[in-house]
Amino acid sequence: MKILAIETSCDETSIAILKGEEKSGVFKILANVVSSQVKIHAKWGGVVPNLAAREHLKNIIPVLNETLKKAKVVLSEIDLIAITQGPGLIPALLIGINAAKTLAYFCEKPLIGIHHIEGHIYANYINQKKEGNLSQFKFPVLALVVSGGHTQLILMKDYLNYKIIGETLDDAAGEAFDKIAKIMNLGYPGGPAVAKRALEGKSQIMNKFKIQNAHKIQSGKNKKSKDIFPRPMINSGDLNFSFSGLKTAVLYFYEKIKKEIKDKKNLEAHKNFICWEAQTAIVEVLRKKSLMAIEKYHPQSFFLAGGVAANKELRGDFEKHIKNNLGVEFTCPLIEYCGDNAAMIAVVAFSKLIKKNINPKKLKENWRDLEADSNLKLKN
Ligand code: KG4
Ligand code: ZN
Repeated sequence: MKILAIETSCDETSIAILKGEEKSGVFKILANVVSSQVKIHAKWGGVVPNLAAREHLKNIIPVLNETLKKAKVVLSEIDLIAITQGPGLIPALLIGINAAKTLAYFCEKPLIGIHHIEGHIYANYINQKKEGNLSQFKFPVLALVVSGGHTQLILMKDYLNYKIIGETLDDAAGEAFDKIAKIMNLGYPGGPAVAKRALEGKSQIMNKFKIQNAHKIQSGKNKKSKDIFPRPMINSGDLNFSFSGLKTAVLYFYEKIKKEIKDKKNLEAHKNFICWEAQTAIVEVLRKKSLMAIEKYHPQSFFLAGGVAANKELRGDFEKHIKNNLGVEFTCPLIEYCGDNAAMIAVVAFSKLIKKNINPKKLKENWRDLEADSNLKLKN
């Protein structure tokens, strides 16, 4: 069977085609086209919902044509259309949903709505050959979803069965990266910018770079610690997260440093150092809570997922501390499937059809009722 998936929840217009074998659960991604709007939103330092919608509208048909061409598939061969229903930005979601509904109506195809976070989790099933097998991982699976809008630990006892066992009480991890980048004017998107600066900061530290008065400058209650920045909620005893305090600590620290350091080159070097320290704080909190969750719930597999999963230090740290550890199989998506893409949405749709035994004929009328939901909840 062939599934055409559309994803427009934020600032990527993406369409993919998956070819799957129902009996075995083996699939191949025939094409996954992603058109990024990064340059448009960079000017504003974040995603502007109405601008995103306008770009989706402009891009969706060209992206559809390119996907069909790459996959060497015509629309009549498609068995199911899958669309990201939420969560996401309503103006952005609406463009993809309306395109999917129109295609479903005119081509008389069944239509299924997919949860964006399910997509991030299922991106782990796509391997280097752009293939996958739904029986490839053992359950229970524990997933750490770290994206721009979410930081959640999700336990899956089986396919498409979700229990949120921990989540952020304020900012998501990706949001923290983005805000830290904004504070220091590092460009957009913030995550990759901070990661790049952090790498430079790391080599500076290895070269014995001295942070100017770092420990003197660092504020209040964290003074005795060797860490420049706090690790929010690391010892809270539960599996929840909080990243807004870290962002504030970076803000105060940077403001003080900026006043003290007049030399531009030196200030840039300090920004690198701040990025390294802040990234290390985020990674440490994510690792500690993940290890706690593993000890508590004894999963067989651990998935890293979401845009922040592209962070090399995070991947390396989790490989070191979780891979082959505690009897858990560790996996993270290929870098190209960490960020938003439609291939991951297609994998969830495929999984729903075969693991939940959904008859596509029952989805024929979905073009009428399917609605965008910016706060869509994960359902089992
Ligand atoms: O999953 P995603 O593409 O979109 C959402 O569903 O939110 O995640 C985007 C987030 C952004 O906050 C971005 O800054 C962050 O992922 N991100 C990174 C990296 N690449 C993207 N954060 C840290 N390091 C990276 N290399
Ligand atoms: Zn996402």
